[in-house]
Amino acid sequence: MINWQFAGRNGARPSNFDVASLRILEGWAPAWPRQTTKNWVNSSPGYLAHFPNCVRKSASNDVSQRERLPIAIHILDRTFVFAKPSERSLAINPTDYAFQRCIFPDCGATFGVEETHIGCTRCGGLFEVAYEWDRLPVPSSLREFERLWGQRHDPFAFSGVWRFHSLLPFSPREKCVTVGEGQTLLHPSDRVARYVGLNAGRLFLQYEGMNPSGSFKDNGMAAAFTHARLIGATRAACASTGNTSASLALYCAVTGLMKAIIFIGSGKIAYGKLSQALDYGALTVQIAGDFDDAMKRVQEVSRSLGIYLVNSVNPFRLEGQKTIMFRVLEGLRWEVPDWIVVPGGNLGNSSAFGKAFRELKELGLIERVPRLAVINATGANTLYRLYEQQGIRWNQGRVDKNQVGEFYQVMDQEQRRASTIASAIEINRPVNLMKCLQALETCQGVVREVTDQEILDAKAQVGAGGLGCEPASAASVAGAKRLVAEGVIGRDERVVCVLTGHQLKDPTATVAYHTTDQEMFNKVLGTRGVHRATFANRAVTVANDLNEIIKAIQIYG
Ligand code: F0G
Repeated sequence: MINWQFAGRNGARPSNFDVASLRILEGWAPAWPRQTTKNWVNSSPGYLAHFPNCVRKSASNDVSQRERLPIAIHILDRTFVFAKPSERSLAINPTDYAFQRCIFPDCGATFGVEETHIGCTRCGGLFEVAYEWDRLPVPSSLREFERLWGQRHDPFAFSGVWRFHSLLPFSPREKCVTVGEGQTLLHPSDRVARYVGLNAGRLFLQYEGMNPSGSFKDNGMAAAFTHARLIGATRAACASTGNTSASLALYCAVTGLMKAIIFIGSGKIAYGKLSQALDYGALTVQIAGDFDDAMKRVQEVSRSLGIYLVNSVNPFRLEGQKTIMFRVLEGLRWEVPDWIVVPGGNLGNSSAFGKAFRELKELGLIERVPRLAVINATGANTLYRLYEQQGIRWNQGRVDKNQVGEFYQVMDQEQRRASTIASAIEINRPVNLMKCLQALETCQGVVREVTDQEILDAKAQVGAGGLGCEPASAASVAGAKRLVAEGVIGRDERVVCVLTGHQLKDPTATVAYHTTDQEMFNKVLGTRGVHRATFANRAVTVANDLNEIIKAIQIYG
């Protein structure tokens, strides 16, 4: 047995810092009631870093022995014995090893998991959830997740989010909230590949419309609800272009854990989504304004009333959205695609995807990260302008914030408001802009804008393949088509387009595209600069007469 002895430098008592660290260790200790030497130490240096003021004394200085030999640590009159990682997994409380951290390295402020600040209280930046990975049981290979496929009776193994719990371990597993989210499909589509200009077998649609509320938001909501439960929240709020609110309302109704309060811009939300929030019983507050107005108000209201905020500014939500990428890898049997193409609105997804790949790479679970393409609608193209036209970069955390500030100032002076048929991404001030810039750096990203015409044509192509999507989702396909045409994406590269929301979310846009009613077309789409419906599937009007009906079927069938 190796005896590690910790004492303050020069034999002094440990400092307060050390004592605080010991409390963490004490959290571990009760899990091994008999402090025997049967357990094994994690050889990684991570936990030792908690004792910067301590010296180590050991019966053996042979470092190579650390991994193999049992270890006890004597501190003052107490003895702590450590387990090897696989044994620890039974005992640890993950919240001890997760924390919130400001994304800007120059600030680096950290806060506990139990805190709920909307932004960094020191510099105003965004928080991310960070982990002491070397103290947590991380799988040695992504294939290890396959073990859970046969355990679908267990709600946490069934959940497409919590099946990957060890890659977002901010809560004890048994405290996680699930309504069965994440049963999604990575669907290969040669039809869409052809449309986009890719070779057969190279295009995949990550169909998030299969989630309980019909959009990718449920991935994040499962995680946000888990955090909300950890801290005992009873009310939750969001501003929304419709899908976050539908998801929040659904989770509240199904779990009964919180009451939902949603803020929407008046007339800015598609009917499918509005119908969900109303049906599921959320308090629905319509603000005379757009999403950006609602977003500002909900933050103020959350702060002043202490209501839990579930917009993607909440870092726990993004932890859940990382799993969309884990499932993409799962669908490709753990091979990394060449490109991930995703619509950009509030930029939560793109940020979460970048974090997912950054962490997987750091953990040695993938060898390379895919490239990321974020697609704006032309009428809501803040990211495109800043990144592609003004050259704003993450720059390892030193973003030119003045330039961003000036951009918004001009936007306000010119009274530019977001406007696109893809109402889900009709956003001018994406709250996750900074995180998205980081993701673009991680994934050598590109940003493109696509017109409403391109979005609706791409949507019709996706819909004709059966797994239909809402307009915003189709921006990913329209964007991929542009990037192939530009030669940025090679014809033989493997591309995943994320279809973020279900086709039924926005029936108005779909029916207007396929309609024979020119007035309706002009009212819904013409005003958006959409002039053609190249892939329309128009209804055939026939008299209520058997012969006429048969004739029509023979002509069109
Ligand atoms: N696609 C759909 C269907 C969405 O609902 C959203 C965002 C996005 C894409 C954009 O994703 O914000 O991660 O860049 N909808 C939010 C909402 C804003 O309130 O439902 P993002």
